[in-house]
Amino acid sequence: MWKFLGFKNGDNYIKNDEKKQYELNYDNIPRHIAIIMDGNGRWAKEKNLPRSIGHTVAVENLNKIIKETSDLGVKYLTLYAFSTENWNRPAEEVNTLMKLLAEYLKKQLNELHKNNVIVKTIGDISRLPDICIQVLEKSMEKTKNNTGMLLNLALNYGGRDEILYAIKNIFNDYVEGIISKEDINNINVEIFNKYLYTKNIPDPDLIIRTSGEQRLSNFLLWQCAYSEFWYTDVKWPDFSKENLHEAIKDYQLRNRRFGGIK
Ligand code: FPP
Repeated sequence: MWKFLGFKNGDNYIKNDEKKQYELNYDNIPRHIAIIMDGNGRWAKEKNLPRSIGHTVAVENLNKIIKETSDLGVKYLTLYAFSTENWNRPAEEVNTLMKLLAEYLKKQLNELHKNNVIVKTIGDISRLPDICIQVLEKSMEKTKNNTGMLLNLALNYGGRDEILYAIKNIFNDYVEGIISKEDINNINVEIFNKYLYTKNIPDPDLIIRTSGEQRLSNFLLWQCAYSEFWYTDVKWPDFSKENLHEAIKDYQLRNRRFGGIK
């Protein structure tokens, strides 16, 4: 039976060891979870393995977490799979990541489809190798009429790049006469949202980062205005269902005020 996740004496700080007594509240599952899957390289290094093995095990970990988020009733799961800055890695590592992406989707598409998952991407995928583009397009096409969780893969994605992309699209709409100068003067958050890669996707409620790093690294900069952040020292290849539950329980203990007063 779920216990009320209240705040002690109106305080919104509950010690970590006290959090363990709380159970997951299935009525308050975050609608949108976004994950920075970090630590693959360090996970491999600790074991004297090449970084590529860290990434391989990281991909093997995906299904379990995707299935669990979907089973919990999360509607949107965004995974930071390749950033605009990840091109700066050695070509060999970039190639490994691209190969893993293509292989993962080739192997798992039927399973994702069977689980009613919709596959989408954010970021400029045109720069990815052809094989990745093909398999991504096939995945999006095959799953487009599904009604379950939206699996949103951030690929060649950067928050700053996305904001520039939105501004350029607004300018193009103005040049082509689709919107007027008055429309531009009246742009608000809702309208700007429609020019982002994430149009039609609500802002993330919970952003998880693994591996002990506590930064955003150019992820969902616009969308994270009121997201709750959760960090763990666990590296992505070891991230478990239990860790996911821990993150969600912690989220459920937060007092979200969105700048207002509760
Ligand atoms: C961060 O670990 C991880 C990445 C840059 C890539 C994450 C990508 C995957 C898990 C594969 C994506 C594939 C699919 C199918 C979505 P790191 O290499 O920065 O680790 P480190 O900080 O320990 O070096």
